[in-house]
This record gives sequence, structure tokens and C-alpha cells, in this order.
Amino acid sequence: MGNSFISTCLSTRNPILFGRGTSKRVGEELQHMGVTKALVVFDKGVQAAGIVDKITKSIEDAGIAVVLYDNVQPDPPDWSCEEAAELGRREGVNGIVAVGGGSSLDTGKGAKVLLTNPPPISRYYLEHEDVVPDESKMHPIIVIPTTAGTGSEATPGGVITDTKEDKKRNVPCMSNLGIVDPELTVGLPPLVTATTAVDALCHSAEAYTSNKPNAINDLFNEKSVGLIGKYLPRVFDDPTDIEAREGVQLAATLGGLGLMGPFCHIPHEIGLIIGMLFHIPHGTACGMTLPEALEYIAPEIPERVRKVAELLGAEVPSDATPEEIGRIAFERTRWLYEKIGFPKLSGYATKDEILAAVPKIMDPYPFIHSPRPLTEDAVTAILEKAYAR
Ligand SMILES: [Fe+2]
Repeated sequence: MGNSFISTCLSTRNPILFGRGTSKRVGEELQHMGVTKALVVFDKGVQAAGIVDKITKSIEDAGIAVVLYDNVQPDPPDWSCEEAAELGRREGVNGIVAVGGGSSLDTGKGAKVLLTNPPPISRYYLEHEDVVPDESKMHPIIVIPTTAGTGSEATPGGVITDTKEDKKRNVPCMSNLGIVDPELTVGLPPLVTATTAVDALCHSAEAYTSNKPNAINDLFNEKSVGLIGKYLPRVFDDPTDIEAREGVQLAATLGGLGLMGPFCHIPHEIGLIIGMLFHIPHGTACGMTLPEALEYIAPEIPERVRKVAELLGAEVPSDATPEEIGRIAFERTRWLYEKIGFPKLSGYATKDEILAAVPKIMDPYPFIHSPRPLTEDAVTAILEKAYAR
């Protein structure tokens, strides 16, 4: 591992500062951006973990005033972005720091749009495409993930819940800097560690096996899957293993970079619907069908599924048939789930309730990025198998 994990800056549209202890530099980085008063966006769990105090100390030590918004919600709703932005406007802030899991980062991105563009946030949903927020007038945002999963620090937008239509929407918004400090993830509870890491695994494994792969994203995604295969079990052997935490954190950031272009497919498309219907956290909902999806697509792209299985630590015989490769990928992913205590679908709904969701899954999401087409029967079979775990 060694030097490759020393703090580095990637030149992407979302600059990222990665490395142990980098979160101490937030105040200094805000200074460089000319921020004099910052809105800090977080949820109460991050505050209880003592992380917010450390971040605000760094900001105040740099002579920058702080305004706190602590009402971030899971599956961040439209009204919360508007509430945070209204507070920021009232207080006259000229910058934002979002610290926490994906919900905090996405709320912060939504608030960034609304600090300098008229509300409501629904005006800017990508799905509407009629109003584009003026990026040039926006105040800067620094995003600081405290989980290793969503990769939101690397993606050019926020995912917001449209509470009127009960749908997830995308809002275009770049972060001006992502500060990714693996030390912030050391105290994460096992369930959060497991489900957020599986979200990262889904990003990279799905993008790698989508029907639009490319050579550059392959580099991010292969590295990301391999880091999870190597380090996630180690985190569960010793949660204080900082090198392993660092490996999983890097996997999450690379997964965010790797999904932009090829995009996710079966697990995320099913996960977004069942997550909304049964109030399943994002990483949990998406991870539910990853083993089954890998097995399902193996006949179409056996060599890519083989690579995923091998990067997760499986041995795949050189003469394995596509179906055998799918089976091995399925079993290896299930093994990982067992190792990390990944939740079961039966903990959230009955089998009948889950299967009743299939028409809704098929309706707005035609699985356009899947390498193998899916009928309603195929989705039903995937969910039945996932439910039996
Ligand atoms: Fe995700």
C-alpha cells in the first residue's frame, strides 16, 4: 500500500484531497476559496460521533465564522435542502461544508444550488431539464464523507427525494473540493460500514459490467472492486485497522469516479424502487440483488463477471463455463455478505410484498444499462432468490 495512500489530489471536475488526517485542512482550504462564513451541514449522528466539533474547530481556527445546519434526513428530502439554504441565505454565508454520509453531502449540494438560485429545488431536477442552475454564481462547497460508500464526493450531482411524487431526483451540482479522510470512518458501526461499502461495491461492479464500459472507467472500477475484496473482510476482523479502512475508503471514491459514464444497472435500479417502497437504506437496498444480478448477466459477459469474482478473492477455473462463472461470482459475493453481516431482505418486507413491487420496478426503469435484457419474470426470479438468502 505505502506511498499510494499518501494525501493526493486528483485532477477531476470534483477535486479530491485523499488521505489520513486531511479533514484537519478544511479551514485552510476554505480560506483559499475566500470563504468568510460557512454553513456546516450534517446530521445528528455525525455530531454525536464528535466529528462535527473537529471540523468546526478547523474552520474557526482559520478565522472563518460557522453556521450549523443539523437537520439532515435520510434519503434527503427536497424541503431539507430548502431549509438549509434558507438558513444560509439569512445568515449571509458564502460557502458550505457538508460532512457525513451521502445524505449530508447531497443535502449540502442541494443547498449550494439554492443559496444563489431561486427555490424550490424541484426547478433544477435533471429530469425536468428546463431550468439549469447558474453554476458561475454559486458559493463553493467542500464535501467531507464520513462513510466509505456513496462516492458522492466524486460525482457531479446530488440525489434528492421529491416528496410530492415520492421519487429520487438528480440535481446537477459540482463540489469544489472533496476531503476524504479515512480516519473519520474508524468509529463507524459495523452495519453502516457493511451497507455503505456494499453500495461502493455495487457502483464499481455494476459499472464494470454495464453495457457501456470504457477503458478509463475500467481502471477505477477494477481497482475499486479489488480494494473491497482485499480490505473489507479485514475491516471486519479489526475495525480499527486504519490501512484496511483506508483501502475501503479509496474503493468508495474510485467507485464514484468509475460509475460516471458506464452507470449502474440491475442492483441499483431494483434497489432504488424497493428502497423507497420499504424504507430500506440505499446501500442495503442496492446490495440485495448484487449476487443474483452477477449470476444473471454472466452468460452475456462471462469474462467481466469472472474478473469481478477474482477481484473479490474467488478462484475461477480457466475452463469454467459462463454459467459456472456466474455461480462462483454469486457464491463469493454471498460469502462476503456473510462475513460482514449484510442485512437480509426478509428483514424489511414479506416475500409477497417484495414481489408485488415488480411491475413498479419494470415501469420507469427499463434496465437500459444492463448487459442482458430483463423480463418481469427475470426480475421476479432475481428477487425470489435474493429473498431466500
Ligand atoms: Fe449507490
